[in-house]
Amino acid sequence: MPQSQFSKIFFPTNLETNGPDWILEPFLARISGGVTFLVSIVASIFTPDAEKDRKGYPPLRSNLFLQCWIRRMRDLVYTSMISVPGEFVTFQDRKLVNDGNGGWACDYTGKQITCVDMGSFNYLGFASNDGQISDEVINSMHTFGLTACSTRSEFGEFPVHIELEKLVAKFLGVEDAIVCGSGFATNALNIPAIMDENTLVFSDAKNHSSVIMGLRLSKAVVRVFRHNDLHHLEKLLLNLFQSGEVHNFEKIIVIVEGVYSMDGSILRLPELLRLKAIFKFYIYLEEAHSFGAMGPNGDGIVDYFNCDPSGVDIYMGTFSKSLWAAGGYMAGSRQLVQHLRENGYAHLHATAMPPPIAQQIISAIESLMSEDGKSRLARLKSNSAYFKGELIKRGFFVYGDLDSPSACVACPNMGKIGFILRELRNRGVLATGVSHPAVGTTEGRLRFCMSAAHSKESLDYVVTQLTQVADLVYLRDSKIAENSAKIIFGKKIHEMSSYLQL
Ligand SMILES: Cc1ncc(COP(=O)(O)O)c(C=O)c1O
Repeated sequence: MPQSQFSKIFFPTNLETNGPDWILEPFLARISGGVTFLVSIVASIFTPDAEKDRKGYPPLRSNLFLQCWIRRMRDLVYTSMISVPGEFVTFQDRKLVNDGNGGWACDYTGKQITCVDMGSFNYLGFASNDGQISDEVINSMHTFGLTACSTRSEFGEFPVHIELEKLVAKFLGVEDAIVCGSGFATNALNIPAIMDENTLVFSDAKNHSSVIMGLRLSKAVVRVFRHNDLHHLEKLLLNLFQSGEVHNFEKIIVIVEGVYSMDGSILRLPELLRLKAIFKFYIYLEEAHSFGAMGPNGDGIVDYFNCDPSGVDIYMGTFSKSLWAAGGYMAGSRQLVQHLRENGYAHLHATAMPPPIAQQIISAIESLMSEDGKSRLARLKSNSAYFKGELIKRGFFVYGDLDSPSACVACPNMGKIGFILRELRNRGVLATGVSHPAVGTTEGRLRFCMSAAHSKESLDYVVTQLTQVADLVYLRDSKIAENSAKIIFGKKIHEMSSYLQL
């Protein structure tokens, strides 16, 4: 985006940090974080779950952390967006007001706010309401209409679905693929078709809730291994074989994600393939955040590590991130996909993917296979490394790998997350926070989604604003962040920086 357009959209003038009190404020900031944490734990023991002011009603939310956190952050969640994602995005401003019932509600102020968009999963910058892809989608809508109004197994199958499935299989280098209208349902409703109580599943601790939902529905026996810790997985597998327990199960499946968006971490696929060769399990690879975004061709994590696609048995991914569409796929052998066509609930009992969405995915994948796609991928990769590198240089603790399209900055004190996100919005930066229960109670973080649509100028702008805001709450010198670096990587921040050659 040209300079003039950027400066027209947002530039705060009077929000500079006023020199903090270097003695009292860091002390109070840490004390307040500790006190909040302790009070919430004590309160969770003594407070009954029911909402006291609504006698006779069961609680709407029984989780104290959600009550404490979400209620105070209502103006930051369920944001009402009014523009297409991109380098910038516009939404309706709201402010917290007392709802007169012991809680907080939100009122629209009537203002529209434009911010640098660090919140959308628009990794490749395909989000757009004009241009060639949009034209192809509109043409498809003129031909097939807006939706299918039936399941694939009845009257909801259109030529675009068949074309899309062939294209996905070709793109991934596997025999066949099946697509569903919802990414969440792709996991939740297909996992029960391939796993049952005779299946033993090793599941990464940070797998998405759609995987967990699918596993619950499947009744498979689940063992969780520490996030991205393949040594831990190896130990569990060794125990399984040494104890002879392995004979109690018909098959063993390891479920992992290519990129974990809450951690920005990348699966160590070559290491997993080494374990597979020894222990003979199946690999279920969830690629919601890596399909389209990782590897020189955007094929995902197999492409990123230049591995043989046949090493992965079950591919799953969503189209709602890199390709700016919706829905998901399962892919692999012809036999697997045929089984899902006959037994997968999403295929049999849910309305088919809307044809214009299928067309959006086809057009985006075709673009990804062209020179345009390669340059988007290269931009995404260099933007991610640049942004994370700048943050690490400034003393932030950034979780995960440089190449992943999600930048997660440690903010262990959950109270600070709300403050920082609100302050960032005031300064023209839209980002998200991640808190319990998605992560541990002291593992809160700020998440910045990278995009090929970002210019260096907007990334620099975000880094500057985040640095200023973080200094208001002493995030950069947080010992807890330093400690979490040690816990997660066994390294201190400055060691990480040299490791990353910054
Ligand atoms: C890892 C992962 N899997 C599955 C999903 C569900 O996909 P969708 O939002 O397209 O339904 C998400 C959504 O964010 C996700 O992050």
